[in-house]
Amino acid sequence: MKDNQINLQDMKSAADMIRKGGLVAFPTETVYGLGGDATSPDASRKIYEAKGRPSDNPLIVHIADFSQLVQIVDKVPPEAELLAKKFWPGPLTMILNKNEMIPYETTGGLDTVAIRMPSHPVALAFLRESRCMIAAPSANTSGRPSPTSASHVWEDLQGRIDGIIDGGDVEIGIESTIVDLTDEIPTVLRPGFITMEMLEEVLGQVRLDPGIASENTKVPPKAPGMRYRHYAPKAELTLVEGEVIRVVDKINDLAEDAYQRGMKVGIIATEETKEEYALGEVVSIGSREDESEVAHHLYGVLRAFDELGVDVIYSESFPSAGVGQAVMNRLLKAAGHKRIIV
Ligand code: TXA
Ligand code: MG
Repeated sequence: MKDNQINLQDMKSAADMIRKGGLVAFPTETVYGLGGDATSPDASRKIYEAKGRPSDNPLIVHIADFSQLVQIVDKVPPEAELLAKKFWPGPLTMILNKNEMIPYETTGGLDTVAIRMPSHPVALAFLRESRCMIAAPSANTSGRPSPTSASHVWEDLQGRIDGIIDGGDVEIGIESTIVDLTDEIPTVLRPGFITMEMLEEVLGQVRLDPGIASENTKVPPKAPGMRYRHYAPKAELTLVEGEVIRVVDKINDLAEDAYQRGMKVGIIATEETKEEYALGEVVSIGSREDESEVAHHLYGVLRAFDELGVDVIYSESFPSAGVGQAVMNRLLKAAGHKRIIV
């Protein structure tokens, strides 16, 4: 399926495919998802297989209506209603205790289930047309950066899935914020476009999973998917943190050094600094003034470096307030926590 104009017939056949137990990739406002019927153990098994993903890493169940959440959880806490009212449809995933409607194949063996109502009109239309709840992880091969366009999905999964609904480039570019409501204090397991501050405003109290604070590598993250090196480019990535001028100097030194050793160097720069680099493949990830723009370009830039065939990548860092927290979380994971502070 092609084009931003999704025609009704294509949508119907994609929805049929889901009902028959097939796998269809589709756009959401965050990243592309690889969808299958969330109530079918078989469809979930096929999703893991297509992605090469460990089967203990649970999937997110996508819904089009709040009444579907009520069908799959043991009870609906007031926090879930408040959050849904404020942020759904949108880039927020909630973890709740599941009931028997959702099989363990979908939740990676856990008694909890991740649920999200996406806001992308194509995703919502697809969910409604299929009359299913759709389990969907990001539609990349496990370990690769999440796909932000249909061509990224094609690169990773062609021949392994039944179809792709092409909705053009996604809007946000990083995965949804995950908030766990099964703990006493609502806990953010994965930062995203809906920030801690925004959640705090609705819930009063929110904490960040101690397992994902960047300085904490001893406690494992609660979300299984946050435990692995992920979002990984093929080249070794190192983050350089500190005052911008010093970061640029340090990256220039590192680049020179790597170049002398015969390596092809990639640099993740910004609009403000891209002219300051003397050598290497310099790619701007956006303006330092606009964290959302940086988030939007992040995975495309990591994939671009794979295509350029660089051996090492040095990246600037970003303030970790607001959406910057999600950006730094993804960059640190892509770097396997390799960072130099100047
Ligand atoms: O924006 C998104 O959330 C995208 C789009 C397609 O909706 N989906 C996505 O799915 O990023 P995935 O599978 O790539 O990431 C899901 C994350 C994983 O880290 C997984 O471990 C965690 O959610 N997760 C899912 N169910 C969970 C549960 N019951 N408890 C804890 N973590 C869970
Ligand atoms: Mg993923």
